[in-house]
Amino acid sequence: MHSRFLQTCRGEPTDRRPVWLMRQAGRYLPEYRAVRDKTSFLELCATPELAAKVTLQPVDLLGVDAAIIFADILLPLDAMGAGLSFAKGDGPRFEHPIRSREDIQALVRPDVHASLGYVFETVRLVRAELNGRVPVIGFAGSPWTLAAYAVEGGVSQAFPELLRWSYEDPQAVRQLLDLIAEVSVEYLHGQIEAGAQAIQIFDTWGGLLSARRWREIALPALSRMLESIPGEVPRIFYMRGSAHLLDVLRTLPIEVLSVDWRMPLDEVRQQVGPELVLQGNLDPCALLASPDVIRAEVEELLARGRGGGHIVNLGHGILPPTPPANAKAFVDAVQSAAP
Ligand code: CP3
Repeated sequence: MHSRFLQTCRGEPTDRRPVWLMRQAGRYLPEYRAVRDKTSFLELCATPELAAKVTLQPVDLLGVDAAIIFADILLPLDAMGAGLSFAKGDGPRFEHPIRSREDIQALVRPDVHASLGYVFETVRLVRAELNGRVPVIGFAGSPWTLAAYAVEGGVSQAFPELLRWSYEDPQAVRQLLDLIAEVSVEYLHGQIEAGAQAIQIFDTWGGLLSARRWREIALPALSRMLESIPGEVPRIFYMRGSAHLLDVLRTLPIEVLSVDWRMPLDEVRQQVGPELVLQGNLDPCALLASPDVIRAEVEELLARGRGGGHIVNLGHGILPPTPPANAKAFVDAVQSAAP
């Protein structure tokens, strides 16, 4: 299959840079809201026909160079027995927060085909419907980021329960991360067997840790997860707030490093060297401004990304108030630019 996205992941030259958006299927699209109005978020994830339909919306509407499966990083925690729900207008909530060694013992090792097989079915449907148009990205959360939600019981600004526990009993937290990684490996393999052509790991909260503690606590389980992915499937690692960790991230077993918007891409490149492909890193808030501003920002980003492989994306997920026309202006600006 000819794909600028996969070629760039492999470090091969292309006629122009590929572009997609984190959270590209979502609430900023009226077409998504129309589907979502009739079903809950978790039901939408668990209904492969509908999940496939919303996965394809940004491919058809924006013309992005890759599709990412519609699902959520938190689904495996639900399968492990943590009791995930999404209240209306609220973030995720866990009925059974994990805060002790006993809580870890009580978690189940799920059969991923029985409990998460609907995600694999979505991958199959999307691959069939795309018929080679663009490749399909599968994904999972990093063990640390999943633990952050599981321990806190939901969203948080500062994750105090998790951080307290990680100081009091780092071994228990590492044990939790190991268990999450084991389940995630099987979950990712299921996605790859179903047809996912690249894998992205989302580490939204890794940046909470100091460099020393990230190495000690978060890195071992993450590395095992990354190493388990078969060689022909490119691995993308996204971290929010990673500027203090670039010297360790450059040594991860990955092909693509995806960074947030805080550090200009040429400075990231200086720190990670020429080999890694970079992904990012427009500020999602820039898409709230006018198309003229967006085009100027894209030009700036493309110039700063010139020193090596570059997949154009945002530095974090697209925001719900983004006008779809602005997302389209972003994609068009990248696709019509010189390489
Ligand atoms: O990118 C895509 O289009 C694919 C689908 C996808 C979703 N979530 C759908 C979703 C992906 C890749 C994710 C990743 C995800 N989920 C992350 C990592 C990336 C990041 O944004 O930091 C995290 C931390 C989550 C956990 C999560 N899911 C939260 C905190 C929330 C509530 C806040 C929010 O943004 O709504 C969700 C819900 C969620 N996941 C929605 C979507 C489309 C909104 C659900 C709705 O329709 O109401």
